[in-house]
Amino acid sequence: MTIHIGANPGDIAETVLMPGDPRRAKWAAETFLEDATCVNEVRGMLGFTGTWKGHRVTIQGSGMGMPSLSIYANELIRDYGAQTLIRIGSCGGMQEAVKVRDVILAMTCSTLSTPSRGIFRELNFAPCADWGLLQAAQQSAQRRGVGLHVGGIYSSDVFYDERPDLNEQMIRHGILGVEMEAAELYTLAARHGRRALAVLTVSDHLITGEALPSEDRERSFGDMVEIALEAAFA
Ligand code: HPA
Repeated sequence: MTIHIGANPGDIAETVLMPGDPRRAKWAAETFLEDATCVNEVRGMLGFTGTWKGHRVTIQGSGMGMPSLSIYANELIRDYGAQTLIRIGSCGGMQEAVKVRDVILAMTCSTLSTPSRGIFRELNFAPCADWGLLQAAQQSAQRRGVGLHVGGIYSSDVFYDERPDLNEQMIRHGILGVEMEAAELYTLAARHGRRALAVLTVSDHLITGEALPSEDRERSFGDMVEIALEAAFA
């Protein structure tokens, strides 16, 4: 047990999928894993471990934003020995070519800061995805025929943004989408020598204002879970 995860040692698999929403962790575990059991309920941040095609997998909610994800990813890495951590979540589209329902694989994450800012001080560290996971996810997404984009994303600290000029600069520099967690996941994975990737479904769009209807969310979310699982065990 750790401060925020109630699982016993050995309850957490080496491969961990991390949706922001704990109820999505439950849905994904019930939908895609065999013999899934709940391994964490602390603060309602549900986690489940089961198997996918014979491989042990944990699906653990991260909460929203980098400070929350950082707590769970740190404990998964340092105390439970997680080796492969894949964020599965939603993002806002930032380019005309990026459509709602498309999947973005985050090659790099730009930020104003991460919880790791204190280490880097004046240095601008560039958090990037694990290449092997990225490549395998790209192949999986292509096989599935989903609209796919691979490139840089923006990990923001705010959903309700008071600085539209920052989004404009991100859009101007070709950033594909905005979310709130991946940069810290990539930074922690780099620090501890683990593999990380963010597979993101575009749920809303900053330029067009379009948003994914709630009935479509489950289907799109399912593609993302399967891409993450195929990438983890490729
Ligand atoms: N901003 C930040 N995070 C998000 C968004 C957004 O528009 N959509 C989904 N996650």
